[in-house]
Amino acid sequence: MKKLITLILPALLLIQFAGCKKTLVTNVESPSGEIKVEVFTLADGQAAYTVHFQQKLVIDTSGLAFEFLDAAPLKSGLKMISTKTRKLSETWEMPWGEQRFVNNHFNELNLAFAEKEGLKRRFDLVFRVYDDGLGFRFEFPEQKNMADVFITEERTEFNLTGDHKVWWTPGDWDISEHLYSTTLFSEINALTKRNHPNLAQTYIPVNAVNTPVTMKTADGIYLSFHEAALLNYSSMTLAVDHENLSMTTNLVGSWRDYKVEQKTPFHTPWRMIQIADRAGDLIESRLILNLNEPSKIEDTSWLKPIKYVGIWWEMHLDITTWAMASGRHGATTGNALRYIDFAAANGIDAVLIEGWNTGWEDWIGTADREGIFDFVTPYPDYDLEAVVKYARARGVDIIMHHETSAAVTTYEQQLDTAYALIERLGINAVKTGYVGTIIPEGEYHHNQFMVNHYQKVIETAARHKVAVNSHETAMASGLRRTWPNKFAMENIRGQEFNAWASDGGNPPEHITIVPFTRMLAGPIDYTPGIFNIKLGPTKPNNQVNTTLAHQLALYVVIYSPIQMAADLPENYDGHPAFQFIKDVGVDWEQTRVLDGEIGEFVTIAREERETGNWFLGSVTNHDARTISVKTDFLEQGVKYKAVIYADGPNTHWFDNPTAYMIEEKEVDAETVLNIRLAPGGGVAVSFLAKP
Ligand code: NOJ
Ligand code: CA
Repeated sequence: MKKLITLILPALLLIQFAGCKKTLVTNVESPSGEIKVEVFTLADGQAAYTVHFQQKLVIDTSGLAFEFLDAAPLKSGLKMISTKTRKLSETWEMPWGEQRFVNNHFNELNLAFAEKEGLKRRFDLVFRVYDDGLGFRFEFPEQKNMADVFITEERTEFNLTGDHKVWWTPGDWDISEHLYSTTLFSEINALTKRNHPNLAQTYIPVNAVNTPVTMKTADGIYLSFHEAALLNYSSMTLAVDHENLSMTTNLVGSWRDYKVEQKTPFHTPWRMIQIADRAGDLIESRLILNLNEPSKIEDTSWLKPIKYVGIWWEMHLDITTWAMASGRHGATTGNALRYIDFAAANGIDAVLIEGWNTGWEDWIGTADREGIFDFVTPYPDYDLEAVVKYARARGVDIIMHHETSAAVTTYEQQLDTAYALIERLGINAVKTGYVGTIIPEGEYHHNQFMVNHYQKVIETAARHKVAVNSHETAMASGLRRTWPNKFAMENIRGQEFNAWASDGGNPPEHITIVPFTRMLAGPIDYTPGIFNIKLGPTKPNNQVNTTLAHQLALYVVIYSPIQMAADLPENYDGHPAFQFIKDVGVDWEQTRVLDGEIGEFVTIAREERETGNWFLGSVTNHDARTISVKTDFLEQGVKYKAVIYADGPNTHWFDNPTAYMIEEKEVDAETVLNIRLAPGGGVAVSFLAKP
């Protein structure tokens, strides 16, 4: 019997394939010609596309369709009525970022499709093909038979050409704080739990992944799938079909019987595929930014990348608490002044103070969290005005904190007053948070309702000249180009998990995957720099699962314009390795990914904008390895003082994590550095240009 099935199956596939007649409409190539997109109509008149990279098929025939609440699906019976092409090659400047100048070079193909019969609905399918990947989106013009639009599902397919190796997180509608799994595509098992058991009908779990999701083909091609410019739409998860090696968009829903509500004219976010034959090229790509609109903030001079410390880790370690009633309140005036003194003494730009405002006694664990938090009223033991004044006198900024506990209405009601207070105090950064299930119930962190909320916050903040570092929001989609006050986002299983996760925290391999996945979406508030790796009396069962040198490397490996020195001041005081955190840049002229393999190691070098100094970070998984670094990125003919913060010969992330060595060397562009990384280890190097 088994034999018969094996014989019949290939025959069936052939018939199915032959039945799927397709007609080539047109094609478009990237400027170099390495990436080619072909657009087809299938036998039933459905639009479809394929993608080739270096002459190899990487996305097989993939159909495109939409389903609506009160209208027939937009799928078959289409004809192409016109095409337009456009080219663009320009260079634009980032106000802050991984590099100063970005090359935006693409060939665009715009295809107008219409239904031949019935409602005769129309849409434009727009492809932009770059040398590092492509984006495409659907643009729906204003039209008689399509005015108010209720999308129940977008069915954009990505048909793969093999059972690739995939780095994925589950297609969770609320949470991005998952560890990455590494499996073959056919082994993805990502059924996610429902967060609202009493609203079961709204969230039927499917085997889906969140994006960015990154893959490697058997012949060494890297593909990463995500979306750009997510505005007034739901986030995309990708449903996984093992049998057909295919993914289809599965939008994040809500309590409503549709997932996206729109009016024509409108367009979807860009569906984005990064393609590269070197893993590091994924990180060097700025495709997601190029697919976003230019800045809407004219004067960006107030947007200054910063390093910060904060009344933060001590709460995660349960030394102090956010709430005052415990008697161990962290955000007291005295404690704030201590952090400010530390920042001032060490050239750290800012201090974050969490737990400063009333409401923390009841912030989680209650069903109705509306009306609990107040974003303008400090606890009585925290003199907000005095703290800000003290900081200003010492050249230190305060970072405001807004934990909303996902009570969105309460936050929106206070938005204007809260941001007016921040502006009046002369503060220009806020950290926001959305812990817990969204209220109103039946909304999700990643759906259209919340995407619109986050955008409202960003635009309010921009009006008040405030940069936002947001936690627990929808995934970054490159909107920082349009709204450069959108500084960093969390959207990751961050350092905090090492303090309290019952599964032992983030494994050593975590940061060898993150730069090739989550970081492709944008800057990350990972909160690096823990020196006291074994966490001590309040957390005897937890530790940070890396070496100390690995913690230093994170300042270069993980990009953020708002980078925390997360450990307690007393763990930095007098510590020689703290010099690296003081020296390292936060704003870059250029970035080079020197080497790396997903899940194994990554080595990144970045040149600081202001000084021309270079910094290098490399991290490894649980395996020790020796990296060989050619310093040919340094300016020719210039001598630099290299300060190397490396693991020692017996360093190990578990047995001996805090052992490290500092070595100084004179180097130039001809130097080769051979550096050993310990298991779970890393290396950080400052290349300081000699005067
Ligand atoms: C979760 C955030 O990720 C963390 O950084 C913050 O301290 C807590 N929420 C409290 O707001
Ligand atoms: Ca978090």
